[in-house]
Amino acid sequence: MPGQKALYVTEKHSPFALGTAPIYKPGPGDFLVRIESTGLNPADWAIQAYGMIIEKYPAILGIDIAGTVADVGEGVTRFKKGDRILTKGTIGKYERTAFQQYALAYEDTSAKIPEGMSFDQAATIPLGLCTSAVALYHDGVNVIGGTCGLTPPWEDGGRGKYRDQPVVVLSGAGSVGQATIQLLKLSGFNPLITTASLSNAEWLKHLGATHVLDRTLPSEELCNEIQKIASKPIMTVFDAAGYPDTQNLGYDLLASGGTMAAVRPDAVKPEKKVEDKKSFFMYADVNLPQNRKLGASMFAELTEMLDNGDLKPNHVEVVPNGLEGIVPALEKLKQGVSCVKLVAHPQETA
Ligand SMILES: NC(=O)c1ccc[n+]([C@@H]2O[C@H](COP(=O)([O-])OP(=O)(O)OC[C@H]3O[C@@H](n4cnc5c(N)ncnc54)[C@H](OP(=O)(O)O)[C@@H]3O)[C@@H](O)[C@H]2O)c1
Repeated sequence: MPGQKALYVTEKHSPFALGTAPIYKPGPGDFLVRIESTGLNPADWAIQAYGMIIEKYPAILGIDIAGTVADVGEGVTRFKKGDRILTKGTIGKYERTAFQQYALAYEDTSAKIPEGMSFDQAATIPLGLCTSAVALYHDGVNVIGGTCGLTPPWEDGGRGKYRDQPVVVLSGAGSVGQATIQLLKLSGFNPLITTASLSNAEWLKHLGATHVLDRTLPSEELCNEIQKIASKPIMTVFDAAGYPDTQNLGYDLLASGGTMAAVRPDAVKPEKKVEDKKSFFMYADVNLPQNRKLGASMFAELTEMLDNGDLKPNHVEVVPNGLEGIVPALEKLKQGVSCVKLVAHPQETA
């Protein structure tokens, strides 16, 4: 059986180690992708360090995939060999993860990369975008965690639907935050208020934020300032950092009947909780059956949204040394990056 190189976590908590894996054969509705670029995400180091989410080892991690179609399975019509695509890997299904040279991908949650966009840029998009999309736009049927229940901007009647309604994105400069700002802009929200390091303000305004406030200001000051700018009740808050201070600020900002989506488990102080303000911890894997309909509807429109500039990739920092370069890069990500995606090239593995 032909082989490939893959980066493993051999046992729970064990360090990453380079090894080999088979090259998978695509089944119906699947295709094989030769991975040119993979974007690194906080979950990649957190799963290895904390032993969370997955139970099956040895494991291959990695979620963001950009590459070339190498083989197609039965019934696949949207892609052919040689197409440049982006897709979201599936945590826990090791033939569908990113830290290897080839992986399987689902046809319906993949999209062609538009001309003019590099593999590296495309690899910054999948997880951040899917996370925001599911939390904002899931229709609520069998949803995991919760949803803001908004109409997606790529569906009929969704574009601009929430015109002149205020919205807040806490920590807009991360990959999830940037995707959220762009989607909310397409939904029409205005003012679109975000918090970040002010060095990122210009870029976040380019993506669609109308106001960027210094995320290090005291919560009370941020709360007053944001409510002044909003000037109307705030019904939707997206906390793209999910720390206790951001979640409690987000919850304070919400008006009666409002909803806050948070990227991390609930950290709102119990004494703050009231019946008429909802908050939820998202689990936004579009490849899960519960999220698949939403994921497929977005991926069907994604190439066009990227091509016409509705959605822009994050800034890229390429890390050297192929799959092995992922190990120090995840350490760097753990220490914190600002408004940039670290991207590795699995084919450059020695
Ligand atoms: N639940 C899910 O389904 C799901 C899915 C994806 C991600 N996540 C989680 O979402 C979080 C963000 O992911 P990401 O990919 O967007 O990460 P990222 O790109 O690495 O986020 C980096 C940004 O975080 C900001 N930041 C750093 N420390 C902060 C703090 N103390 N308070 C507020 N913001 C801070 C920085 O903002 P400045 O540069 O402006 O300082 C930086 O730009 C991670 O915890 C990740 O695990 C959850």
